[in-house]
Amino acid sequence: MLREVLEYLEPRPGQVFIDGTLGGGGYTLALADAVGKDGHVLGIDLDKTAIEQVARLIANAKLANVSLYNDNFKNIDKIYKEFLKKGQGKALYGIVFDLGLSSAQLANPSRGFSFQLDAPLNMSFAHTRIDTDEGRMNTDITTEYIINNSREYELERILREYGEERFARQIAKKIAVSRRDKKIKTTKELVEIIKQAVPGAYRHGRIHPATRTFQALRIATNDELGSLSTALDAAVKILSPRGRIAVVSYHSLEDRIVKRFFKRESKGCICPPKAPACVCNHKLTLKIITKKIVKPSEEEIKINPRARSAKLRVAERV
Ligand SMILES: C[S@@+](CC[C@H](N)C(=O)[O-])C[C@H]1O[C@@H](n2cnc3c(N)ncnc32)[C@H](O)[C@@H]1O
Repeated sequence: MLREVLEYLEPRPGQVFIDGTLGGGGYTLALADAVGKDGHVLGIDLDKTAIEQVARLIANAKLANVSLYNDNFKNIDKIYKEFLKKGQGKALYGIVFDLGLSSAQLANPSRGFSFQLDAPLNMSFAHTRIDTDEGRMNTDITTEYIINNSREYELERILREYGEERFARQIAKKIAVSRRDKKIKTTKELVEIIKQAVPGAYRHGRIHPATRTFQALRIATNDELGSLSTALDAAVKILSPRGRIAVVSYHSLEDRIVKRFFKRESKGCICPPKAPACVCNHKLTLKIITKKIVKPSEEEIKINPRARSAKLRVAERV
């Protein structure tokens, strides 16, 4: 969606932009090119590997107009304020979030994001290592911890809510039974458990039976929906008037959050229609630019099939 995002963000020389999801640096480098040496791009990613890789690209290309932050994008307002303190600050013309996980993360056999690769169960974007033998873990939650410690009803909720998984109850039950005998530690073990829990037709259906469970666990592990909501609130606070926010999402839960947020922020009063007087004091902050979602072109889907579920929404700070 790079072409579409650039069309909507309209970067010009001298402007400042934030890429909240650096990944392989595609969006950051394109923005940096457009804003030139007098502009600046802040690239944020939780994943240290992504930061290190793009840092190398930037060093090789001798780019002085990009700053990288190994942080959660929910801290976007604090990150931008830090940047302003350095004295390079100018009006913030745009923010982009290209949500979810990168192709590099999915393809990395040690990351545990893919149900097609056998790996330790850790779908954290921050890639926290856990000390499984001693049952200790670092501060960040890992998928292994969620799988082995959540109550069965909580697991069922995660699978149903974040994966919209029809067989959430059956899968949660099977996980709860399996972990009694032995801790579930790898993606392969989890895939086997899912296969045993679901009916034959689902096992051989259109999508891999583990797809929705893996999506749900990744969302829970990274608190993806919570981070997105916090980031949207923070983004509105730092965008300059006429600055734009573009969000590319890959599943309906994220898209719903973006859609509702844009809708709410594009209204003044948000009191219930029957309220006799306004008590919310809500102020209109955004104008919706994309009345309908923007989808990737057929050419892009052909080159990158993972793009097929991408949805872009854009709004402008008033
Ligand atoms: C789809 S990729 C971005 C790809 C990027 N647009 C490019 O051109 O390569 C999403 C990236 O966002 C990062 N990410 C996801 N949630 C995050 C969060 N809450 N804070 C910071 N980075 C996050 C992931 O680690 C991943 O690298």
